[in-house]
This record gives sequence, structure tokens and C-alpha cells, in this order.
Amino acid sequence: MIYDPVNRMKEDFKLRGICMSSKDNLKAAFTGESMANRTYLAFAKKADEEGYHQIAKLFRAAAAAETVHAFNHFQRMGGIGTTMDNLKDAISGETYEFTKMYPEFVEEAKKEGDKRALWSFEVANKVERIHAALYEKALNEIGQNEEVDYHVCSVCGYTMEGEPHEKCPICGAAPSKFDKID
Ligand code: FE2
Ligand code: FE2
Ligand code: FE2
Repeated sequence: MIYDPVNRMKEDFKLRGICMSSKDNLKAAFTGESMANRTYLAFAKKADEEGYHQIAKLFRAAAAAETVHAFNHFQRMGGIGTTMDNLKDAISGETYEFTKMYPEFVEEAKKEGDKRALWSFEVANKVERIHAALYEKALNEIGQNEEVDYHVCSVCGYTMEGEPHEKCPICGAAPSKFDKID
């Protein structure tokens, strides 16, 4: 069963006797559509692996449409500011993740002995810290940002400037596992 934050949010609001406004609904719908996009892309990858290329295409088409819906909701809930505002937002989101959210998740996974979840949280935690630093740098240099290529490790998400020549410092994946971002 897919994790369903939208219904959880609605139920939580109902329990607390709060009526959801359209603004709340935009946020909930943005969350749901964003998740549907990533869910369908993961399903498309699986369909391709199983040889169902037409179904993979359908998943990718629906995923693209969910992105349109997510962007519409996000824009209407006032989620997009100037690039300077957006960088600040991004820094605070990443910082929350690596200072609070992931450390708590890591602790819980350790307590439960859930090694697969632990790995997932630990690598994400390390990468979010790097994202915050890259965004900080971009914000400090805004308008004079150096032209550079970014590469992302397809195993753990490690994000780097320039060309990958060595294995991933976070997960140990080979340089061939990195994707260049345009
Ligand atoms: Fe949708
Ligand atoms: Fe991040
Ligand atoms: Fe990696």
C-alpha cells in the first residue's frame, strides 16, 4: 500500500476539528500529485524492466500530467518566489532534513534494526547536507555563478560539481553510475 499523506493530513485535521480551506487543499493536492509523479516514474522503470514498454510509456505520460497538476497547485498556493527567496527556502528545507528529520529517522531505524531503511536515511542525510551547502554557495554568488556541470550518483543521490573521476564518496558507486544533469 502506498503511503498516503493526503488522507493522513485530512484525517489529522478532522481529528483536530480543523476545516481544510482551499489553501490547505492546494498543499495537500500538491503533496499528492508530487508523490504520484515519482510513484509513476518508479512504476514505469519497473514496467520497462519487465518488458511492458507500452505500459511504461503510459506511466510516464500520467507522471508528466501529475507534474503539470503539481506545478499548478504549487503556483496557486504561493509556493514560488524569486530565485533568491527560493534558494533560501531550499536551504531551510534541506537544513531541516539533515539536522532534524533524517537524524530522527536514522535513530528509529537503528532502534528497529531496519538496515535497509537505515541505509536509505543515512545516505539521504549526507546528501541533503551537501545540497544545503551547494545552495548556500549559489545564493552567495547569485548573479555571478560559475558555469559548472553537476553530476548525481544514481545509487545514493550524491550531488557534485564537475566530473566524477573517483567512486562515490557516500556509497562507493563507480563513476559510471553518475548522471550528468543539464
Ligand atoms: Fe493529477
Ligand atoms: Fe536534498
Ligand atoms: Fe552514491
